[in-house]
Formats: sequence, C-alpha cells, structure tokens
Amino acid sequence: MFEKVTAAPADPILGLTDAFRKDPRTDKINLGVGIYKDEAGQTPVLRCVKKAEARLVQEQTTKNYLSIEGTEAYGRVVQKLLFGADSAVIGANRARTAQAPGGTGALRIAGEFIARQLDTNTIWVSNPTWANHQKVFTTAGLEVKEYGYYDAATKDLDFDAMLADLSQAKAGDVVLLHGCCHNPTGIDPTAEQWAQLARLSAEKGWLPLFDFAYQGFARGVEEDAQGLRVFAEHNSELLIASSFSKNFGLYNERVGAFTLVATDAAVADTAFSQIKGIIRANYSNPPSHGAAVVAMVAEDEALYQDWLAELAEMRDRIQEMRTLFVEKLSALGVDQDFSFIARQNGMFSFSGLSKEQVARLKDEFGIYIVGSGRISVAGITKANIDALCNAIAAVI
Ligand code: LMR
Repeated sequence: MFEKVTAAPADPILGLTDAFRKDPRTDKINLGVGIYKDEAGQTPVLRCVKKAEARLVQEQTTKNYLSIEGTEAYGRVVQKLLFGADSAVIGANRARTAQAPGGTGALRIAGEFIARQLDTNTIWVSNPTWANHQKVFTTAGLEVKEYGYYDAATKDLDFDAMLADLSQAKAGDVVLLHGCCHNPTGIDPTAEQWAQLARLSAEKGWLPLFDFAYQGFARGVEEDAQGLRVFAEHNSELLIASSFSKNFGLYNERVGAFTLVATDAAVADTAFSQIKGIIRANYSNPPSHGAAVVAMVAEDEALYQDWLAELAEMRDRIQEMRTLFVEKLSALGVDQDFSFIARQNGMFSFSGLSKEQVARLKDEFGIYIVGSGRISVAGITKANIDALCNAIAAVI
C-alpha cells in the first residue's frame, strides 16, 4: 500500500535545517530557522531555566498526567504575561488558557475550534506570513485568505493595503495578527496603527487570533504586548496562540499556550469545554516539564528578574548584529540600501534577496536562508558576520 504514497515536499524552514545538518562544509552558516545563537554560536539553556529545573527535580513527587488544559499556575502566568497584571480581562475572569505543545500546537487548537464551532471557515493571514500558517489552518479545515502587509519598495509595512484588504473581511471572519516581531518581515504596526486596527476589528466584528511567539524580543515583555492589549480593550472576544520556545529558549520542550477570551466567565467556560474536547482527541493532555519551568520562573521574583535580564541580553545581541550587518555591507561598498534591517524587530528580517541569490548563498558559500529571503538575524555572530557579508556582497 505504501508504495502508492507520493513524497511530500520538504518543509521550507525545518527542511532547510535537515539539509544544513547534512552539509559537510565546516564553515556553513544556518540563518534559516529562528533559533537564538549566543556570541559563541550556541543555543544555550537560560541560567534561570537551569535553576528552575534543578529545583523541579528536587521537588517533583509524581509524573501523573496533567489535566487536559494543564496546570492552573501555568495558565495564570501566561495570562499575566499576555494581558498584564492589572488586566480587566483577568479581573473579570474572561480568559481560559490551555497548555499546548508549542505555539504550533496552540494554532492547531485554534484552527480546529474555528472550523468546528464558529460560523466562519475563513482566516485572513498577512502576505507574507510564517511558512507553516497556511498548512496548519488548511489542515484544520479552514480557508486561508491573505491581506497585504509588506511593501517591497519601501521595505516597510503597507498599512493602506492591509486596511484595504481587511475591509473585505466579513463579520465573524478570523484575522491572524503577529503580536510582535512579525515573522518573516520583522516589521510591526506602530502603537497608533495597532489602535486603529483594534477599533476597526471591533467595528467590523472580526475575530482576532494573535500568534504571539516572540514576546520580549522587540522592546520588552510589557511593551511587546501593546498590540494585543489594545485589542483586548476593544474586543470582547479574542484567541491567542503563544509560545515560550524563543523567549525562554525552551525550543525542544514544546511550551506553548492557547488562550480564549470571551464576553463573560460563563461563556468562556462553555467555549473552553470544546477546546478540551479538541485537545483530548489530539494529544489527550500536555507535556509537563517546560511549562512547569516557565511557571516556576515567572512566580519566583528573583528568577523572574534573572529571566528578564537574560531576555534583554538576547534582544540586545540581536540588535547589535542588525546594526553591524548594515555597517559591514555598506563598508563593503554594497550599493543596495540595507538600513531597514536595523529598524526591524525580533529574530527575522526580509532581506530582499532573490531566490537565485539565496540559492547561490547556499551552493557557493554554505549559507542557508529561507527561499523567501528571510534571514534569521538571531543566528548572526561576530564570528560569522564577515563571511556572511562578503558572500552577500558577492551574490548581489
Ligand atoms: C521559524 O519560523 O523559523 C520558527 O518559528 C521555527 C519553525 O518552527 O518554523
């Protein structure tokens, strides 16, 4: 039977990592997948995570199943980070959170909930968006439509196109928004644009779904939640898929969360009962370890402060690489203006490199970049930046 199965194409991001691993060149550079590298080119376990893990091993008394939605402590911590400690949403008990296997797991829960329980099967995503969004949502049974986002000429947000396209979204349609550090462009709406979008969303009756995977990588944990929080003020219903892969460096522990905000506590409970049904039929109940680490760090003031400092270290190092990258390319006499890279947020930038240039970087220089031209700036270090800039100068 299996001989009838046709081969699936390689994943545009993780497939690239597979190819990178097989590449025998010792000077190869992986700027494909969004993974933070420190100055030594390593993806370290955060110090606050190490401390929490040591404590967990000591204190843990059982490996019993968690409940379908995970622990209360984790849900509390997630909501506080999303909405802020004094949030009206939390005060009115309008949010419900389920521990999910990564941000992707949370997106899939959202997709299935929308497809099965809501009156729409349309979700609007930005053009471009994370390469996996389309697959997650179509697999869940949704129809994916695109709204304009990126202006290739100005290398900036095309807010007019965004508004024009979203004016076609019907009441009840779902609109996916990247909470911060837009993946793949690194371009986020301004505070004023967020407020405008939130007002429009409330007026038109779209259901906003936030993909919030990089909290703390743009300006800070509180600052980066600005877009989501202004939506929470204007919209009585929201869905959020969030992740601690990046900001806690817990990539392989798969620590994400699905959060639903409803008009009141009773509606939230009923809707959440369907979320629990979706989870039970998918993976029954979530893995414990990574979420327990996050909850422990976030609820211990000293560990929490350590985390904020380590997150700032990661953010600042990426920003330093952005500036250095722009300076080095200019010093090499590259005519093309790359100054936009220094203005963008988070792990990624849309370089504007063509498919041919991306292919040459891989074939001739062992430099791996996603086909769209997305660069993971988080993978640039002082040790590889000269080789990278020389190679880019050679292919342009
Ligand atoms: C990325 O966009 O590189 C990350 O979110 C990792 C992934 O799963 O694609």
